[in-house]
Amino acid sequence: MNQRTRKLFPTLVYCAPLVRGRWRPFNERLLHECRRLRIDDGAGRAWSAENYPGGYTSYSSASRMHRVSPTFAELERRISVHVKAYARALEYDLKGRPLTMTDCWVNIMPRHVVHGLHLHPLSTISGTYYVQVPRGCPGIKVEDPRLDRFMAAPPRRARASRHWVELPAKAGQLILFESWLRHEVMPHQQAAERISISFNYGWF
Ligand code: NI
Repeated sequence: MNQRTRKLFPTLVYCAPLVRGRWRPFNERLLHECRRLRIDDGAGRAWSAENYPGGYTSYSSASRMHRVSPTFAELERRISVHVKAYARALEYDLKGRPLTMTDCWVNIMPRHVVHGLHLHPLSTISGTYYVQVPRGCPGIKVEDPRLDRFMAAPPRRARASRHWVELPAKAGQLILFESWLRHEVMPHQQAAERISISFNYGWF
C-alpha cells in the first residue's frame, strides 16, 4: 500500500476483554447458569435436536436471557459499554433513540457440532461473549462481505488479506460486529464443551 492507494469501506469488528482485571468469578456464574439452562430448557433441547444437531442453543426458547436472569442483566450492562464504544468507532449517529439489546441466548457446542454460515437479520450490532473455550477450539470465522462480487478477481498471495478471517475465541472475551457480517463456527475435537452467549442490539 502506498500513498496513492487508499483503503475504502473498511469492515470494523470489535474484540476486547469484557472487563478489566478479575473476570473469572462473574464468568463462573455465567457458566453455571448456561449449564443450568440446558437442564431446565426442555423446549430448547428439543429445538436444538432438530436444528443444532449435537449441540444446545436457547435461541428459540430462552432468547431474552437478559430479561429473566440478573446475571445476564449484568452481562448486558457490561456489554453495552463496549457496544457504545463500537458504535462510536462506526460513527453511527444514534440521535433520538438508543441501541438496545433485543436478544441474548446461550450456545453450547460439544465436539463435532458445527454452526453454519449465517447473519443476524433485523438487528444492528451482534456479538458473542465467550464463557468457556477449551484449548484448540476454533474462533469465529467472518466472511468478506464483498465475496459475491469477486467475479474475475485473481487469487491473492497467502499473506494478503483473505476472504475469511478467523477471530480467536477466548473465555472472558467479547466480539462485536455489524449484524450483516456473515459468520460461522467450525467444529472442534476437544472433550470439553465450547460455551458462548450471543446477542443482538437493535436500533430500529
Ligand atoms: Ni451468529
